[in-house]
Amino acid sequence: MKKVITYGTFDLIHHGHINILRKAKEYGDYLIVGLSSDEFNALKEKEAYYSFEERKLILEAIKYVDEVISEDNWNQKIIDIQSNEIDLFVMGSDWEGKFDELMPYCEVIYLPRTEGISSSKIKKDLFNKKC
Ligand code: CTP
Repeated sequence: MKKVITYGTFDLIHHGHINILRKAKEYGDYLIVGLSSDEFNALKEKEAYYSFEERKLILEAIKYVDEVISEDNWNQKIIDIQSNEIDLFVMGSDWEGKFDELMPYCEVIYLPRTEGISSSKIKKDLFNKKC
């Protein structure tokens, strides 16, 4: 069984998220998502609209996602890869080259981002919209 892992905050799920999750799952049989915890988001100075538990619930309902684990710091990826026997690490192209140090542990690929959408854009656009 080929196991794939990807990471992110996945707040306000949008079609860019669905595209990367679908493509990541196509590369293997079992997809694990390392989901940024609220504490890790605070460390990254990123504030999600939904809490970790809410984002996890939503991700778990997506048919491409087999398992959600918590990402609590920048340094746990090698441990996650080893303990979950991961074959492939996938991230969007905004992270191109940033995780090449994982290459001794598993295959690493960066997939093209979906143009024109992000959680930040949704927040910004909704802020400017009349209710
Ligand atoms: N992603 C993507 N296409 C997009 C947005 C995100 O492929 N349009 C991918 C990212 O490259 C990453 C994963 O989805 O691998 C999770 O990204 P995340 O940061 O949670 O989503 P964003 O929408 O980019 O959030 P933000 O605006 O807060 O950075």
